Amino acid sequence: MQHVLGLLILWRKVLMMLFSELVRRKGIESCFKWARQMLCKDVAAIDINMGCPKSFSLTGGMGAALLSKPELIHDILTTLRRNLDIPVTCKIRLLNTSPGTVELARRIEKTGVPALAVHGRRIKDRPRDPAKWDEIADVAAALSIPVIANGDVFEYEDFKRIKDATGASSIMAARGALWNASIFCPKGKLSWEEVKKEYVRKSILWDNDLKSTKQTLKEMIMHYSCLEFREGKAVIKSGSLADLAKLYGEEEYYNFIAATRGA
Ligand SMILES: Cc1cc2nc3c(=O)[nH]c(=O)nc-3n(C[C@H](O)[C@H](O)[C@H](O)COP(=O)(O)O)c2cc1C
Repeated sequence: MQHVLGLLILWRKVLMMLFSELVRRKGIESCFKWARQMLCKDVAAIDINMGCPKSFSLTGGMGAALLSKPELIHDILTTLRRNLDIPVTCKIRLLNTSPGTVELARRIEKTGVPALAVHGRRIKDRPRDPAKWDEIADVAAALSIPVIANGDVFEYEDFKRIKDATGASSIMAARGALWNASIFCPKGKLSWEEVKKEYVRKSILWDNDLKSTKQTLKEMIMHYSCLEFREGKAVIKSGSLADLAKLYGEEEYYNFIAATRGA
């Protein structure tokens, strides 16, 4: 395990060195030109993650590590905005004090980003700690651009609750949607068994990446059941979408889609 971790860290260092060398040789502007060609044709907008509190982000100077470097944030956002034709936004976490978060949010607004997402937790908070909607409200009240509120939306009714509590213009939901995507249904949530089956069908239809499909299924199982049971073990063992189709009784649908694709 340690060897694998060591290899990954080394690989990331090699990639960063290669990128730095590319920037040194070609200049930052040509690197952006390359990024523009590679990315902008496929995505509608870019959001910079300044909220990730994981140690690999913090030690690598990424994610929430940026929150204590407002000049760098300014540099990143203005450079991206200048060089890309698509909207560039960012997502932050709360700082240690609400006035501190508001001050940072105002600086970010000045870079010209069209929206800002705020996750209502601080770096040291754990996912089980309640999101501080009142501190998101302080940011929303201070800015003119749309604020996207994030944290603890698990039911359809929570969308209105967080909107009313924060005054934010939009809402971002992560775990609630991951565990049961029917959270967006005004008539109420479907059973997770139904959602899981439909998720597998959609993954087959869109030929979704296997790793991502398995990860989402694992998150659902971990939340509602246990990975140690038969189903969890079978998902972990699955080597293809065809295996998952078999596991969830969707072989006929898989074969139909495969035949349509081949035709
Ligand atoms: C499996 C998982 C992966 C995540 N990956 C990212 C990420 O890549 N970038 C990001 O900004 N936040 C990421 N987050 C954090 C969520 O976007 C969100 O801020 C956090 O879960 C709080 O929202 P929630 O209470 O609706 O889950 C991730 C969360 C989970 C559960």
